[in-house]
Amino acid sequence: MKYLVIALIALVSLGIGSVGHDAYTIDSDDSVIELLEQFGEDFNEKRPKIDIDASADLGEDIIRNGFSNRKGLKKSKRQSKHFVCTSCHNLEREDPDLSINDPQARLEYTVEKGIPFLQATTLYGAVNRETYYNGDYDKKYGELVAPAREDIREAIQLCAQECAQGRALKEWEIESILAYLWTIDLKVKDLNLSDLELQSIQSAMGNEVLKKEGVKLIKRKYLTASDATFIPPPVDRKIGTGLSGDQENGKLIYDNSCLHCHYQKRYSFLHLDDNKMSFRYLDKAAETYSRHSLYQVARYGTYSKYGKKSYMPNYTMEKMSNQQLADLRAYIKYRALL
Ligand code: HEC
Ligand code: HEC
Repeated sequence: MKYLVIALIALVSLGIGSVGHDAYTIDSDDSVIELLEQFGEDFNEKRPKIDIDASADLGEDIIRNGFSNRKGLKKSKRQSKHFVCTSCHNLEREDPDLSINDPQARLEYTVEKGIPFLQATTLYGAVNRETYYNGDYDKKYGELVAPAREDIREAIQLCAQECAQGRALKEWEIESILAYLWTIDLKVKDLNLSDLELQSIQSAMGNEVLKKEGVKLIKRKYLTASDATFIPPPVDRKIGTGLSGDQENGKLIYDNSCLHCHYQKRYSFLHLDDNKMSFRYLDKAAETYSRHSLYQVARYGTYSKYGKKSYMPNYTMEKMSNQQLADLRAYIKYRALL
């Protein structure tokens, strides 16, 4: 990375091509897409069609509440009986460094921001990503993933039906959701660019020779795909992950992740809270091979069944490390014994 920046600066100062781009000066509040468009990247395919009665406000309603009231029309039917998009996705930035996946850094960052720590990737910056349902998600959703891999509209529709276990979205709903996602796209300030990097991007912009390097530099600052690796639960549940756990970190996971859906049965039939009963229940099952074992539910999730469609999404390795799983186990054990 350093070399790329130095090379860019060096080439520009050698006078290769014109220096800078007069018409456009990068501002930290600019959207990353706007910046990339200055380099000739094309995002038009992803832009919402708002001539069909769609809007970002309607999209936000659907994402947060599952339905929307369009002016002059009847309230739309709830998209899912079980979930809303925010059951599983944040709408805010959730990583301090967008160029890497680090579940522990994410946990600390989300706790600090007062937002939950969840199985699905934040929708903040979703329009900036180039592929969806990456990695092992084709194991879970099979052929359904193919059309959604490179098409954000298909990704939204797949999630509404498969992840949220609800009805299909109408076209105006998809376009509205997409319009809202465009309001939570990445901004230049999210990329943590150094002054030197900003300068070299600015210089590369109007320069035919350096353009490609400029785009590369920008795209190295965030993940253009959210990877997903499914891992099985520990083989011997008595031994568990084999790692020694940190209960304090485990408490952060329990409070910010498990309780998000289970407290007062918010998005599930199982109530969990801060009382001994919850910890005893989880502790008793943890080392067994039953469907109540936290190892089992964390790594495999639960499956929806006929008549009981609500299910728990699994945590991929990118969303919960084995160390974090050990931390959660340690916290539950500790609280069950208190
Ligand atoms: C029960 C949990 C759940 C609900 C509810 C849910 N999603 Fe998802 N969603 C997921 C999971 C798990 C993935 C897999 C990929 C990822 O996010 O890491 C995903 C993926 C996505 C993706 C692709 C993200 C990527 O980078 O791969 C989009 C877009 C999306 N969901 C939109 C929505 C919208 C819009 C709604 C509401 C209509 C919704 N989701 C409801 C769990 C959920
Ligand atoms: C996105 C929401 C969500 C999150 C986050 C979540 N769960 Fe769940 N969980 C569910 C749903 C939905 C079910 C399915 C059964 C139900 O509806 O109660 C479930 C099922 C379970 C079950 C099995 C219950 C049974 O009787 O089969 C356990 C145990 C459990 N969760 C523990 C946890 C723990 C521990 C965490 C934190 C690491 C957690 N859950 C995080 C939604 C969630």
